[in-house]
Amino acid sequence: MTAPPAPPAPPGPPWALLAELTHACPLRCGYCSNPVELVGRSGELSTEQWSEVFRQAGALGVVHTHLSGGEPLLRRDLSDLVAAADGARLYTQLVTSGVGLGERRLAELTGAGLRSVQLSVQHADRVTAERIAGARSFTAKERAARLIHEAGLPLGLNAVLHRGNLDDLDGLIRLALDWGADRIELANTQYHGWAARNRAALLPTPAQVERARARVVRWRERLGGTLELVWVAPDLVDATAKPCMGGWGAVSLTVTPDGTVLPCPAAGTLPGLDPPNVTHRELAWIWRESRAFNAFRGESWMPEPCRGCALRTVDHGGCRCQAYALTGDATRTDPACRHAPDRPLVAALVHGAADCADPSAYGYRGGGR
Ligand code: FES
Repeated sequence: MTAPPAPPAPPGPPWALLAELTHACPLRCGYCSNPVELVGRSGELSTEQWSEVFRQAGALGVVHTHLSGGEPLLRRDLSDLVAAADGARLYTQLVTSGVGLGERRLAELTGAGLRSVQLSVQHADRVTAERIAGARSFTAKERAARLIHEAGLPLGLNAVLHRGNLDDLDGLIRLALDWGADRIELANTQYHGWAARNRAALLPTPAQVERARARVVRWRERLGGTLELVWVAPDLVDATAKPCMGGWGAVSLTVTPDGTVLPCPAAGTLPGLDPPNVTHRELAWIWRESRAFNAFRGESWMPEPCRGCALRTVDHGGCRCQAYALTGDATRTDPACRHAPDRPLVAALVHGAADCADPSAYGYRGGGR
């Protein structure tokens, strides 16, 4: 007998705030999961508005803020924003490409209260890395990693994985060791926003994924914990729904450059969500009361087979944005799941991607291939 769906529990405080300070970015990565239509510079929240967001987040119980983008270093007021977040008792992490991070800027940021840095890397080989990023950036990343390490800040690398770099996992891990990183996140591409356009060129083959997964296991044994290796699984290839965002409206909130507040970075694509904005509503009301944050809390929204599946408390029904992107209905079972009625859609994509002749033929933001 199937247990009745659990009603949404009253939400506890969110753990994290993803603050997308700007959508502007010096890189043009084909795997970028930011929206196709970006917020322009003139539409960004001001220093005062962001400071108020951090104050409200602190009062709400948020512990950790990721200062992200785009490239947050393009905000001239970044030190002021770090100081405001730190003043609100938030742990501040800068998520950056490293382009524009010199000695003076880093000193300003650490002086303002910056606690850690996550640096993106595309490939261990300079030429390939810059081809993937669509911009000169490798030297800036090398320098940024050295400065961060010398400053004594915890350094994490973030490598978004796809068909064009999955076979270079050893190189990426060696790079993390050479650059003195404490952690490397090996994150298989999430096909949202711009990345969804390039899915056919980015999707890896199942054989590539298996080779990479085996390498991660071997490296973990070899390193014995000296470098933390985080493997973010490719849900489409694995045929397993991911516990996206740790559950809808359960762990974190995202504030986009213009102040829109979303339960996940891609939720702006969902029709009828009516996402609130910090310029009109308090963060606490948005978190607890808004329709957007309650839309998929709990289990009562779940269709079969999720509703009767023992894994629903683990995967929380998978990714709503992916269900919408692939089926046009955000309430359907995530088609990544092997039990989803729409799984054949994903099986065809994975099969088709394996047959794609040119894995580098993805489109860059701003044009070009
Ligand atoms: Fe929105 Fe997964 S990205 S729910």
